[in-house]
Amino acid sequence: MYKKKLFNRLSCVTLSVVTIASLSSCRSNTESAANEEVKDTAAIACPAATYTIEESMQDSFALLAPSKKSSMSLIEALANRRTVRSFAETALSDQQISDLLWCACGVNREDGKLTAPTACNAQEIDVYLFTPKAIYFYQKASHSLKLFKEGDFREKAGNQAFFRTAPIAIALVGDFDKMGRFDEEGKQFYSATDVGYVSQDIYLYCAAAGLATVACGNIDRPAITELLGLTNAKPLLSHPVGIEQ
Ligand SMILES: Cc1cc2nc3c(=O)[nH]c(=O)nc-3n(C[C@H](O)[C@H](O)[C@H](O)COP(=O)(O)O)c2cc1C
Repeated sequence: MYKKKLFNRLSCVTLSVVTIASLSSCRSNTESAANEEVKDTAAIACPAATYTIEESMQDSFALLAPSKKSSMSLIEALANRRTVRSFAETALSDQQISDLLWCACGVNREDGKLTAPTACNAQEIDVYLFTPKAIYFYQKASHSLKLFKEGDFREKAGNQAFFRTAPIAIALVGDFDKMGRFDEEGKQFYSATDVGYVSQDIYLYCAAAGLATVACGNIDRPAITELLGLTNAKPLLSHPVGIEQ
């Protein structure tokens, strides 16, 4: 149904680098998904794709290489950053979605570390992409998406009406299985802290790319926990993303 051209996987690995400061430049929910990420990485190739992420229902596919240029400086993006709660239904481009996920917490160095810092480099913030067709799990290491669940569940990502109109939503989940070195209080504190960096990365990318978003703590955590089949993980924040209406 959707054609994609596969590049050599090596080119995906070499994408890496560049921080949000230069706003441009690749690397996973539950324990099972995290494990799947590791297994899937070898099978995923980098693309020059013609598919449309929002319409796709492929089991897994690589995202586009992150853009490495922005017409806006970090300081300008900070000057423009703001919360927007009104979204057109207009779809985002594959490049915008790829850049958004990479900026949120993609791999930006050869050692596998991320655009967003995490306490003890736990990398516990999992990213779920809700599209009109499906929920995907962002596999950081391979900068790719893995189909999690078919169907339009965008309005379940948050409690406010704009989740029904924004073309995509992102759910940020703290995976406590990746925080074994912390006690219970530490897991709660550091996951809540770490998600703030990811959220700010999303805000700054959106500001630089002319997109709209709002961090939402007003979410139905039990419902998202059930929807995503989380066992030892906590939904923290959700972000609808789209074009301001
Ligand atoms: C952790 C956090 C949770 C938030 N939760 C919500 C929310 O559930 N719903 C909402 O409409 N806005 C939410 N916001 C957005 C704030 O209301 C907004 O950031 C604040 O009014 C300041 O506006 P600004 O982002 O434009 O500077 C949240 C912001 C943060 C940082």
